Amino acid sequence: MLDIAKIPEGWYRICKIPRRESEFAEEFNLFGGIVRVSNSHHSGPKPLDSTLPRWSATFQKDQTRKPKALTLCEKPPFLLAWFPETTTPNFDIVPLSPLIRDHWSAPFHLRWIVKSNLLEIAENAADMGHFTSVHIYKEHAQLSKFLTEDHKMSVFFKSARRILGIRVPVEIELHYQGLGWVESRAKSPMVEVHVVYTPTPIDSSHLEINLSLSFKKTRNPLFNLILRLILPWEAGRDYQRDIPIWENKIIHQHPKLCSADGPILKLRRWANRFYSPRIEGNSALQDRVCRLSEL
Ligand SMILES: [Fe+2]
Repeated sequence: MLDIAKIPEGWYRICKIPRRESEFAEEFNLFGGIVRVSNSHHSGPKPLDSTLPRWSATFQKDQTRKPKALTLCEKPPFLLAWFPETTTPNFDIVPLSPLIRDHWSAPFHLRWIVKSNLLEIAENAADMGHFTSVHIYKEHAQLSKFLTEDHKMSVFFKSARRILGIRVPVEIELHYQGLGWVESRAKSPMVEVHVVYTPTPIDSSHLEINLSLSFKKTRNPLFNLILRLILPWEAGRDYQRDIPIWENKIIHQHPKLCSADGPILKLRRWANRFYSPRIEGNSALQDRVCRLSEL
């Protein structure tokens, strides 16, 4: 049984990597406590793949407890932290493609505070039925592939939607690395879009959701300008349709599902590994615990 009141372990976006690195020191209300991030030139947690100056971060549950160091890594444009601070990272985030790259638009960022939890959000990826009833897809979403491997989950589906008033087929991929880092690729004859979607727990029942979207530029500068104006508005409007549903859903451990619901239970079995207690230093035993919990 998944305990959704618990914050699952994994990598989570804390903030954008500050431009003025040497002067940075900020606090964030995250993970049910306070995360303090600062630039550090003294011994602190080592970023995994940093090419920038070192950052250090601590997590303090409340005033009665000592701050504890968080492990950080940089995935431009974001600084990520591993949570909980009591475990060491057992996977790394490998972005499918950089968010900032040649021939693609600069990313734009949208943000929401949502009363929900990471499992609810993740179940959206497998819920094929809701793409037409909640979003503006014009054909029932056809699941092509659903893959899980260790900390990764991928969903591939096809549908159709209107872009600038024209109905076009779309192929969509959603790639999860843990529950805090999601990338999607959407391809249509009109535009190719890359989204990095990072829900970070504020506490056990609230999330700060950041959506960063860029599109592949076409050879037509006027069309690129139209996309730059339309896509943020369109993406924001579409994602917001989920929010009232997330905020009012109730988790049923044994839901009654129909064929259109998609592989919800497979997704929960995969997600369970992030909610399961981990036994540090014994990976073989940990694997066994994960396998047993999937039975
Ligand atoms: Fe959705």
